Amino acid sequence: QQRYALRRTVVLVGMMGSGKTAIGRALSQRLDVPFLDSDHEIETAANATIAEIFARDGEPFFRRRESEVIARLLMGSPCILSTGGGAFLAKRNRKQIKKHGVAVWLNAPLPVLWDRVRHKDSRPLLRTANPYATLSEIYDARTPIYAKAKLHLAVGHRATIEDTTSSVMSLL
Ligand code: S3P
Repeated sequence: QQRYALRRTVVLVGMMGSGKTAIGRALSQRLDVPFLDSDHEIETAANATIAEIFARDGEPFFRRRESEVIARLLMGSPCILSTGGGAFLAKRNRKQIKKHGVAVWLNAPLPVLWDRVRHKDSRPLLRTANPYATLSEIYDARTPIYAKAKLHLAVGHRATIEDTTSSVMSLL
């Protein structure tokens, strides 16, 4: 196992299906630092799934919780923090992340994202008449914002979790 003194929290950002959670887990094992996931923290605190929180309390409520959770987690010792796909859109979140961590954008192409999310029912934003069109619109709208992340990693079709994890480590 590689020993690596992580000085700042590594914050994984990017679209749903870009692999933030899988890469975050693998990265935390390789670097031997804790892994945290903002969606998971929100779900645990609310004792409900993200889909239930959206349905019951609405997206603005979720976004407030998300900002609080991210700000709190960034105050802890350096770790790997995976965020929900919308987290980096809010300027207040970007400011916190920039101040206390380093943002890594997992930039996967639309067909890869679609392949990974199409069979899942856990993304409330994709519960539309045409989820592919919705994903594509979200992708186009968010790409310039994700590009504000300090570090960018293009994730290809055939990239394995191991490959992508190694690539993130070489960026740090
Ligand atoms: C969202 C992405 C989800 C979750 C919520 C909203 C988004 O997280 O936070 O459904 O706005 O893109 P993942 O990126 O882990 O799917």
